[in-house]
Amino acid sequence: MFSSKTTLITALLSVLQLAAAAPASSEGASSLTARSNSGEFTFYSPGLGACGITSSDSDLVVALAKGMFDAQTPNGNPNNNPLCGKKINASFQGKSVTVTIVDSCPGCAGAGLDLSPTAFSQLADQALGHVSGTWDFA
Ligand SMILES: *[C@@H]1O[C@H](CO)[C@@H](O)[C@H](O)[C@H]1NC(C)=O
Repeated sequence: MFSSKTTLITALLSVLQLAAAAPASSEGASSLTARSNSGEFTFYSPGLGACGITSSDSDLVVALAKGMFDAQTPNGNPNNNPLCGKKINASFQGKSVTVTIVDSCPGCAGAGLDLSPTAFSQLADQALGHVSGTWDFA
Protein backbone atom coordinates (compact mmCIF):
# COMPACT_ATOMS: atom_id res chain seq x y z
CA MET A 1 0.00 0.00 0.00
CA PHE A 2 2.63 2.51 1.10
CA SER A 3 5.04 1.64 -1.68
CA SER A 4 2.32 1.80 -4.35
CA LYS A 5 1.36 5.25 -3.08
CA THR A 6 4.99 6.30 -3.25
CA THR A 7 5.19 4.95 -6.79
CA LEU A 8 2.06 6.85 -7.74
CA ILE A 9 3.38 10.09 -6.26
CA THR A 10 6.71 9.59 -8.04
CA ALA A 11 4.86 8.99 -11.32
CA LEU A 12 2.69 12.07 -10.78
CA LEU A 13 5.75 14.20 -10.04
CA SER A 14 7.48 13.07 -13.21
CA VAL A 15 4.35 13.83 -15.23
CA LEU A 16 4.24 17.31 -13.67
CA GLN A 17 7.92 17.83 -14.42
CA LEU A 18 7.41 16.71 -18.03
CA ALA A 19 4.41 19.03 -18.33
CA ALA A 20 6.40 21.92 -16.91
CA ALA A 21 9.36 21.22 -19.18
CA ALA A 22 7.28 20.75 -22.32
CA PRO A 23 6.67 23.76 -24.55
CA ALA A 24 3.09 25.05 -24.48
CA SER A 25 1.88 23.37 -27.66
CA SER A 26 -1.53 22.00 -28.60
CA GLU A 27 0.11 18.56 -28.79
CA GLY A 28 0.99 18.79 -25.10
CA ALA A 29 -2.55 19.85 -24.23
CA SER A 30 -4.18 16.93 -26.04
CA SER A 31 -1.89 14.36 -24.40
CA LEU A 32 -2.85 15.83 -21.03
CA THR A 33 -6.58 15.51 -21.72
CA ALA A 34 -6.03 11.89 -22.81
CA ARG A 35 -5.01 10.96 -19.25
CA SER A 36 -7.34 8.97 -17.01
CA ASN A 37 -10.24 10.68 -15.32
CA SER A 38 -10.52 10.32 -11.56
CA GLY A 39 -13.79 10.31 -9.74
CA GLU A 40 -16.04 8.83 -7.13
CA PHE A 41 -17.72 5.57 -8.17
CA THR A 42 -21.15 4.84 -6.74
CA PHE A 43 -23.93 2.50 -7.87
CA TYR A 44 -27.63 2.77 -8.55
CA SER A 45 -30.53 0.82 -9.96
CA PRO A 46 -30.71 1.83 -13.62
CA GLY A 47 -34.09 2.21 -15.29
CA LEU A 48 -35.03 4.45 -18.21
CA GLY A 49 -31.99 6.73 -18.51
CA ALA A 50 -31.21 10.05 -20.17
CA CYS A 51 -30.14 8.21 -23.34
CA GLY A 52 -33.68 6.85 -23.76
CA ILE A 53 -32.60 3.28 -23.04
CA THR A 54 -33.98 1.09 -20.24
CA SER A 55 -31.33 -0.88 -18.35
CA SER A 56 -31.36 -3.22 -15.37
CA ASP A 57 -29.12 -3.94 -12.38
CA SER A 58 -27.36 -6.77 -14.19
CA ASP A 59 -26.37 -4.71 -17.25
CA LEU A 60 -22.82 -3.34 -17.45
CA VAL A 61 -23.93 0.29 -17.72
CA VAL A 62 -23.02 3.64 -16.22
CA ALA A 63 -24.48 7.07 -15.60
CA LEU A 64 -21.84 9.72 -16.27
CA ALA A 65 -21.55 12.81 -14.05
CA LYS A 66 -24.22 15.28 -15.20
CA GLY A 67 -21.70 18.07 -15.76
CA MET A 68 -19.68 15.99 -18.22
CA PHE A 69 -22.76 14.43 -19.82
CA ASP A 70 -24.77 17.63 -20.28
CA ALA A 71 -21.81 19.41 -21.87
CA GLN A 72 -22.30 17.09 -24.88
CA THR A 73 -26.11 17.24 -25.10
CA PRO A 74 -27.14 18.84 -28.40
CA ASN A 75 -30.25 21.06 -28.53
CA GLY A 76 -31.46 19.99 -25.10
CA ASN A 77 -32.25 16.41 -26.15
CA PRO A 78 -30.14 14.00 -24.06
CA ASN A 79 -31.26 11.04 -26.22
CA ASN A 80 -29.05 12.48 -28.97
CA ASN A 81 -26.01 12.92 -26.72
CA PRO A 82 -23.01 11.43 -28.60
CA LEU A 83 -21.77 9.99 -25.30
CA CYS A 84 -24.75 7.61 -25.23
CA GLY A 85 -23.52 4.11 -26.09
CA LYS A 86 -19.86 5.06 -25.63
CA LYS A 87 -17.86 2.65 -23.51
CA ILE A 88 -15.88 3.48 -20.40
CA ASN A 89 -13.15 1.37 -18.81
CA ALA A 90 -13.48 2.00 -15.06
CA SER A 91 -10.67 0.84 -12.76
CA PHE A 92 -10.20 0.48 -9.02
CA GLN A 93 -7.25 -1.15 -7.24
CA GLY A 94 -6.14 -3.23 -10.21
CA LYS A 95 -9.63 -4.35 -11.24
CA SER A 96 -11.46 -2.94 -14.23
CA VAL A 97 -14.82 -3.20 -15.91
CA THR A 98 -16.03 -1.93 -19.28
CA VAL A 99 -19.43 -0.24 -19.10
CA THR A 100 -21.70 1.53 -21.58
CA ILE A 101 -22.96 5.08 -20.95
CA VAL A 102 -26.77 5.09 -20.73
CA ASP A 103 -27.55 7.92 -18.34
CA SER A 104 -26.55 11.15 -16.66
CA CYS A 105 -25.84 11.26 -12.90
CA PRO A 106 -27.09 14.47 -11.25
CA GLY A 107 -25.49 13.55 -7.90
CA CYS A 108 -22.04 12.82 -9.35
CA ALA A 109 -19.39 15.52 -8.97
CA GLY A 110 -16.54 16.08 -11.40
CA ALA A 111 -15.83 12.90 -13.35
CA GLY A 112 -17.87 10.69 -11.01
CA LEU A 113 -19.55 7.52 -12.27
CA ASP A 114 -22.77 5.92 -11.06
CA LEU A 115 -22.41 2.26 -12.02
CA SER A 116 -24.95 -0.53 -12.20
CA PRO A 117 -24.71 -2.79 -9.11
CA THR A 118 -23.24 -5.59 -11.25
CA ALA A 119 -20.54 -3.31 -12.68
CA PHE A 120 -19.68 -1.88 -9.24
CA SER A 121 -19.35 -5.39 -7.83
CA GLN A 122 -16.65 -6.20 -10.40
CA LEU A 123 -14.53 -3.44 -8.84
CA ALA A 124 -15.39 -3.41 -5.15
CA ASP A 125 -17.71 -4.71 -2.45
CA GLN A 126 -21.05 -2.89 -2.55
CA ALA A 127 -20.81 -2.60 1.25
CA LEU A 128 -18.18 0.12 0.70
CA GLY A 129 -20.91 2.28 -0.84
CA HIS A 130 -18.47 4.25 -2.95
CA VAL A 131 -14.81 4.16 -3.99
CA SER A 132 -12.40 6.56 -5.68
CA GLY A 133 -11.44 5.20 -9.07
CA THR A 134 -10.06 6.14 -12.45
CA TRP A 135 -11.52 5.69 -15.91
CA ASP A 136 -10.94 6.23 -19.59
CA PHE A 137 -13.13 6.06 -22.63
CA ALA A 138 -12.59 2.54 -23.96
C1 LIG B 1 -8.76 -0.80 -18.41
O1 LIG B 1 -7.84 0.01 -17.70
C2 LIG B 1 -6.90 -0.74 -16.94
C3 LIG B 1 -6.08 0.24 -16.12
O2 LIG B 1 -5.53 1.24 -16.92
C4 LIG B 1 -6.07 -1.60 -17.87
O3 LIG B 1 -5.17 -2.36 -17.12
C5 LIG B 1 -6.99 -2.52 -18.68
O4 LIG B 1 -6.24 -3.24 -19.62
C6 LIG B 1 -8.07 -1.72 -19.38
N1 LIG B 1 -9.03 -2.64 -19.98
C7 LIG B 1 -9.53 -2.44 -21.18
C8 LIG B 1 -10.54 -3.45 -21.64
O5 LIG B 1 -9.20 -1.49 -21.90
